[in-house]
Amino acid sequence: MFKIQSGILLICFIGSNSTIIDFNEVQKSILQWKNQNLLNLSEIGITTNGGGFDFSDVKNKILQWKTEKLQALCPSNGQQLQNLLNIVCSTSQPTNVTLRDACISCFSQVTSMTEGPQELNALSVCAVQYFTGAYAACATALMALSTSALNVQPSGCFMGYCDFVRCLRTANSVNLITQCTREARTGVNITIDADNVRFYRNVTSCILAKSRCGTFNPITGEPQLPGYTSSGTRVSNALQISETGDLRVLAFSANTPVSNSFCTASTNLTQSNWLTNVC
Ligand SMILES: *[C@@H]1O[C@H](CO)[C@@H](O)[C@H](O)[C@H]1NC(C)=O
Ligand SMILES: *[C@@H]1O[C@H](CO)[C@@H](O)[C@H](O)[C@H]1NC(C)=O
Ligand SMILES: *[C@@H]1O[C@H](CO)[C@@H](O)[C@H](O)[C@H]1NC(C)=O
Ligand SMILES: *[C@@H]1O[C@H](CO)[C@@H](O)[C@H](O)[C@H]1NC(C)=O
Ligand SMILES: *[C@@H]1O[C@H](CO)[C@@H](O)[C@H](O)[C@H]1NC(C)=O
Repeated sequence: MFKIQSGILLICFIGSNSTIIDFNEVQKSILQWKNQNLLNLSEIGITTNGGGFDFSDVKNKILQWKTEKLQALCPSNGQQLQNLLNIVCSTSQPTNVTLRDACISCFSQVTSMTEGPQELNALSVCAVQYFTGAYAACATALMALSTSALNVQPSGCFMGYCDFVRCLRTANSVNLITQCTREARTGVNITIDADNVRFYRNVTSCILAKSRCGTFNPITGEPQLPGYTSSGTRVSNALQISETGDLRVLAFSANTPVSNSFCTASTNLTQSNWLTNVC
């Protein structure tokens, strides 16, 4: 059932965003999906044999389906997306406050929209205009996706949305690593083991302290109470690298008991600070 709904979305996207509907392109996309065994379009009244189909009928079904299902399938994460974009705008436009604010305001008019092709389009307009550095690639990818005929996911949500969010978070984590390696590398000679140990320890300490002690989470942009959870318990954190190479910072309660404290110097999870990142 999901797969068929995805097929409807696909057409909806093309129909509502383009004044010239390229039926060949639509049909090509549909055939592609069919070939991948993702859907059986005969169930929604489209025939792909003979080259034509009744677009008006499809459109009515799409609109009907869209109203009923889109909200339920793709709940809005507008505030989370805005938080993320706030930090991206600040990092992307670090020197010009006017441009930074224009970037934030451009996105704030978009993140409250219903998730869908119109939102993706509007997001890509802001992104292309304001993103620089590591974020520029996210803007380019979003623009390509927001104009792609295959901009749907079998789950029924628009794949461009989450691809965009993941791209931004990855760029944020790359920025964090870059900042910390820059701050920690002074006087480090990579051919000397002791220097590398110091470097590694300081970089790790930096990443964790910046994640924990900032007023914003440096990867997700969520506002936070430095060093504490929203419910007021102290936070400890640790690093992971996912299978896809993404940096993940895990936060947990500093009250978590240390289960094996054999000769440990500290039986709690107190962590190091880094330069001005103290909490
Ligand atoms: C597609 O759906 C129709 C009607 O439900 C069914 O008769 C047909 O066998 C289906 N085709 C495939 C390939 O599943
Ligand atoms: C910031 O960017 C705007 C628009 O490009 C420009 O007019 C302005 O001079 C810039 N301000 C600074 C301080 O660079
Ligand atoms: C790094 O250390 C090696 C070994 O002690 C030394 O030969 C080299 O000159 C050092 N490099 C720098 C840039 O200090
Ligand atoms: C890095 O680590 C060393 C020893 O591990 C420490 O002395 C130094 O102050 C740390 N901080 C910086 C900014 O290098
Ligand atoms: C954790 O242990 C360290 C060293 O034993 C101690 O200085 C610190 O006060 C402890 N922190 C908490 C929250 O218990």
